[in-house]
Amino acid sequence: MKSGVKRLLGRAGFDIVRSTNNLGGIDDFIPFEATVRAARAAGLSVGDYIDEVMNGTPGATQSTIDELSALGVFAANPNTVLEIGPGSGRYLEKTLKECSPDRYEIYETAAPWANYLVDTFGVVAQPTAGSSLAPTPDGSIDLVQAHKVFNTVTFLCASRYFFEMARVTRPGGRIVFDVMTETCLDPAAVRAWATQGGAGHDSYPAAMPRRTCVDLFATLGCSLEASFLAPMGVASTEVLVFGKGA
Ligand SMILES: C[S@@+](CC[C@H](N)C(=O)[O-])C[C@H]1O[C@@H](n2cnc3c(N)ncnc32)[C@H](O)[C@@H]1O
Repeated sequence: MKSGVKRLLGRAGFDIVRSTNNLGGIDDFIPFEATVRAARAAGLSVGDYIDEVMNGTPGATQSTIDELSALGVFAANPNTVLEIGPGSGRYLEKTLKECSPDRYEIYETAAPWANYLVDTFGVVAQPTAGSSLAPTPDGSIDLVQAHKVFNTVTFLCASRYFFEMARVTRPGGRIVFDVMTETCLDPAAVRAWATQGGAGHDSYPAAMPRRTCVDLFATLGCSLEASFLAPMGVASTEVLVFGKGA
């Protein structure tokens, strides 16, 4: 984060959370204590506080969860879920309202948020080293997801995670993540990002071609089942839903 932004946030009483082991993306995430305090004061869950107050997009997380639900992603009641970069847990919290997995693993570089999610939701925080899911065995996860992560990290970090996501998903399982594809990048959107976006972060938003994802996952036995747009920053991101062949 640029030092000017840091200074401003510092003046406002915010501590910046520095991710502890981030290999190649925005290395700061929203401040832990200040966000939790402010959400409590507003009488909102942390996730709803981020959507409604910080981002000014009430219902944004829920609408993605509703789309996934309508696509049947939770219908088989996934017993093992893995999420990369859950951050504040806004998708995690709502996922746990849709299904009751026995095990929910997270890979999160911002240690204060990872600890909070372990304490609040009983998830398992795995050691997070850049773009590896090595502690998770092959074919062990019913639902692998990442939201608003792959548009904040480098191409290499995202693509290394893609291989890992396909590896840990069990045959018949689902992989859900969003990327800022060409579908999200018409000239008006590019202009909006260029003129209003990216404050404080040089690596956000990062684009990823849709076909690259579809073709790569196809070679890994995973086919695209559905996609839809979700709001992100001043424009949008594309959520891709893959199924791994049984
Ligand atoms: C923009 S935030 C999105 C957080 C959350 N998914 C949401 O939508 O509110 C990106 C998250 O990814 C985490 N992150 C960044 N690099 C990561 C990496 N290499 N592995 C795992 N998590 C990472 C950040 O700490 C942060 O929690």
